[in-house]
Amino acid sequence: MKNESKKATRTISQIEKGTVIDHLNPRVVFEVVRILGIDDQIEETVTVGTNFQSKALGKKGIIKIADRFLTQEDVDKLSVISPNATVNIIEDYEVKKKFKVKFPEEVKAILKCPNPNCVTNVEGTESRFKLVQESPILLFCIYCERYMRGNEIEIR
Ligand code: CTP
Ligand code: ZN
Repeated sequence: MKNESKKATRTISQIEKGTVIDHLNPRVVFEVVRILGIDDQIEETVTVGTNFQSKALGKKGIIKIADRFLTQEDVDKLSVISPNATVNIIEDYEVKKKFKVKFPEEVKAILKCPNPNCVTNVEGTESRFKLVQESPILLFCIYCERYMRGNEIEIR
């Protein structure tokens, strides 16, 4: 790690227990804050940082949430909007588990189909998309067979 980078991480304090989402695309940091339901009502200690220097990514965002562990649905949403993020689970000030999120092969329920006539929009059936291609992202609605590109992705 470069010295500047070390200095940048030191400006955010370590947490005793909870979740650190690291290597976030800086363009989606506040979107992740929103989809994780972090708002003014939250009781836990939360730190949101963006545009830190990162050797690998150029710039990155970090979100630290004390005393909270992500659900599978949280991880799925995170995978969809920031596929290279790293999730660190912290206990006793130590990284107990670290994993990189990966775009799921199938995305259930969390995305909205861009086709207004799709049964998922008309009847509110749970949406299901298959991953066709990861980069650039291309998904396929299994109900109406509409293809969906990255710029059309909308999280419910
Ligand atoms: N972290 C934290 N509190 C702790 C331990 C770690 O907030 N008690 C944070 C670190 O600041 C870092 C992330 O969790 O942002 C991952 O920690 P670590 O694996 O020690 O850092 P790196 O080796 O830099 O991670 P990577 O290799 O994934 O870049
Ligand atoms: Zn559809």
